[in-house]
Amino acid sequence: MSPADKPTSSQPWLHQKSPVVQEFGTVKQFPIALSYEARMYSCQRLNKVLADTQILYGLYKKHHWSMRGATFYQLHLLLDKHAGEQLELVDTIAERVQTLGGVAVGDPRHVAEITSIPRPPDGVEEVPAMLSRLLEAHETILAAAHDAAARTAELGDDGTNDLLVSQVIRTGELQAWFLAEHLVDTPLVRV
Ligand SMILES: [Fe+2]
Repeated sequence: MSPADKPTSSQPWLHQKSPVVQEFGTVKQFPIALSYEARMYSCQRLNKVLADTQILYGLYKKHHWSMRGATFYQLHLLLDKHAGEQLELVDTIAERVQTLGGVAVGDPRHVAEITSIPRPPDGVEEVPAMLSRLLEAHETILAAAHDAAARTAELGDDGTNDLLVSQVIRTGELQAWFLAEHLVDTPLVRV
C-alpha cells in the first residue's frame, strides 16, 4: 500500500521532485516600495558579490589549512576568523537577494560559473603568495561593491547600499589591512 492510500500515516513522503517554481535571475513582486527594475538590478549585482564572497570564504579556509612557517599559529587563527566573518556576509547578502524577491546563488558549481576570482592551484603555494591571493580577491570584491553601492543608491535601494557599504566594504577593508600588514618586510629582532 502506498502512503497515498492511507489517510493517516507516519510514513514520510520521500524522493519528491519538483519543477523549478522560480527561475534564477528573476524577482518576485514584494510590497517593499522598490521598483521591479531596482530589485532586478540589485539582485544581479548582489549575486555577483555573493558568488565572489563564497569563493573568498573557501580561499580563506584553504589557506587556513595550508598555512605554515614561524607565524603558522597566528595566521592559522587569523584566516579562520576572517573566514567566519565572510561566511556571515554570505548569509547576509543571500538573504538580501531573497528579501528583494530574487534567488540567491547557492550551489558551489553555480557559484563557480558566476565568480570572477581566479581559481587557485589545487596544491599549496608559498605563504606570501597565499596572502597576496587573498588580498587580490578582497580588492575584486571591494571594487564591485563600491560600484554596486553607488548605483543601487541611485535606483533608490538604500537597504542594498547600506549592506554593501556597512558590511561588505567595511569588513573587506579591515580584513585587507590585517592581511597587508603581514606582507611588510620588517625586522623581527634588530634594526
Ligand atoms: Fe580549522
